[in-house]
Amino acid sequence: MFKPYYRPRRLRRNENIRRMVRETTLSINDLIMPLFVVEGKGVCNPINSMPGNNQYSIDRLVEEVKELHKLNIPAVILFGVPEKKDALGSDATSNNGLIQRTVKAIKDAVPDMYVITDVCFCEYTDHGHCGRVVDNDVHNDMTLELLAKQVITHAKAGADMVAPSGMMDGMVGAIREALDGEGYENIPIMSYAAKYASAFYGPFRDAAESAPKFGDRRSYQMDPANAREAMYEVDLDIKEGADIIMIKPALAYLDIIRRVKDKINLPVAAYNVSGEFAIVKAAARFGWIDEKRVAMEILTSIKRAGADLILTYFAKDAAKWLSE
Ligand code: PBG
Repeated sequence: MFKPYYRPRRLRRNENIRRMVRETTLSINDLIMPLFVVEGKGVCNPINSMPGNNQYSIDRLVEEVKELHKLNIPAVILFGVPEKKDALGSDATSNNGLIQRTVKAIKDAVPDMYVITDVCFCEYTDHGHCGRVVDNDVHNDMTLELLAKQVITHAKAGADMVAPSGMMDGMVGAIREALDGEGYENIPIMSYAAKYASAFYGPFRDAAESAPKFGDRRSYQMDPANAREAMYEVDLDIKEGADIIMIKPALAYLDIIRRVKDKINLPVAAYNVSGEFAIVKAAARFGWIDEKRVAMEILTSIKRAGADLILTYFAKDAAKWLSE
């Protein structure tokens, strides 16, 4: 019988030694909680495909933010679902728009919460695309003008960070220039640098009521088959002035997270998206998996792949689990 000389199991014998040699530790400090806001008062509409998540009116959302703050979650990212949508997504660029009022309300009530705004148009346009549509396609440079307008309203409202997600060419440069031009040179940009045209966004599009009314997003979001192209996108965003680079989705793209992490010297964020969350919730509801263990394993794997920050609908639960 072969008798092993090398025995890695020695360092797995009990929890103390496992703790000591553990290579990756998930922390509350890594977590960003996405929140959806709608018009009205006292509104808390459960999002069916994302159990535990709701569309909140501003007053209720502020209450939720207070809870997240008590749990020591450092940041939220906001998505607005306005009542009125139009071709240009006007609510998104109005100083009195839904998101702008939400940011102000949070900053008044919970000034210590770090508020990130998603910078995009798909939730605000009647056609559901991420910018201005001309001839059935999103016009890149006209959309940059709108993005530049949008970020200034977010900055004025008090946003701590902006996160452009529309995958327009030059979006980071256009936003940086706009912010700097108005004296907001200290507001960082977290760019959705490599964002894939993914079926994992399904539940989000219900939550944000943002599914495109015609076509799809493949003329601006990336082909899931491409990795080298992600490196190009990341390079461009860094050159244009991004402060944090995001990869999205996370789970089917752990290789991209790792490649980017090995290559760049900026913090890397990963978006554990709605579909990734819904799959876990659904299987747990059937009793097929242990939700807490699977969720923590997933979040740890995203961190292990190289993400410094994780945007996740599990943030609130994970914060509780981490402090148990
Ligand atoms: C676009 C945006 C999307 C998500 C975040 N920002 C949707 C899309 O591109 O269709 C998806 C997030 C998720 O699925 O959790 N503003």
